[in-house]
Amino acid sequence: MNITKKSKWIGGSIIYKESTDSTNLDATRMSDRLPDGAVIVADSQTAGSGRRGRTWVSPAGDNLYFSLLLKPDLEPRNAAMLTLVMALAVARAVKETCGAQAMIKWPNDIVVQGKKICGILTQMQLKGTDMEHVIIGVGINVNQSRFETGLKYASSLQRETGKVQDRAVLLAEVLYQFEVLYEQFLVEQSLEFMHSDYEKCLVNLGREVQILDPKGAYEAVALGINEIGELVVGKSDGSTETVYAGEVSVRGLFGYV
Ligand code: BTN
Repeated sequence: MNITKKSKWIGGSIIYKESTDSTNLDATRMSDRLPDGAVIVADSQTAGSGRRGRTWVSPAGDNLYFSLLLKPDLEPRNAAMLTLVMALAVARAVKETCGAQAMIKWPNDIVVQGKKICGILTQMQLKGTDMEHVIIGVGINVNQSRFETGLKYASSLQRETGKVQDRAVLLAEVLYQFEVLYEQFLVEQSLEFMHSDYEKCLVNLGREVQILDPKGAYEAVALGINEIGELVVGKSDGSTETVYAGEVSVRGLFGYV
């Protein structure tokens, strides 16, 4: 498969590294010198980081690890929505390039056949109270064939589709899909425009979930997202709650999703 769709300016500047500690750290270190939309991509990472202080295991040769540097004119409180924009871009790109039914586990995991194939880590840098930049780090397990036994819900596109996938084609498609969504997001500063498409991909929808809130865990049913990307859940007493991605983690009650 060849690269057919090309983004106009996202990824206009691309830095490739054979190995690095973390592409998110690279993007942070180089943020002053790099333009809006620059991408740093690495074949392996020695200190790949995930959400909630976790490590992102990043062996060489098989996967995609990249970070996108953005310098938007955006209220800092709107930055968390960019994780959902990237999640939908990855889900669309996986469908386009691999033909796989990619779903989103709110807010930042992409799931194929119930297994996690991608994680997204969004980090924001403020200057006073203004946004200086946002870095969206994406790790996609593309052709990895074996996983540590502890990672029982992790898989790769190759394992789930039975085919070796082209990393360059997938990266180009993710950047293209992201650019299409991001340009609209910048105009609207809301997720209303992609709400219905996002919910079609939302694997949690209608499912029982456990909300790991720092104030106390509780069980609920995922009802969807609102226009700012919070998860809306229904509790057993009939009340609804909105869950903000920065604060909580969501677990499926009967497995990973
Ligand atoms: C998660 O699911 O916890 C998010 C994982 C994000 C991993 C990617 S790999 C590229 C970028 N560099 C990092 O150190 N992390 C992100």
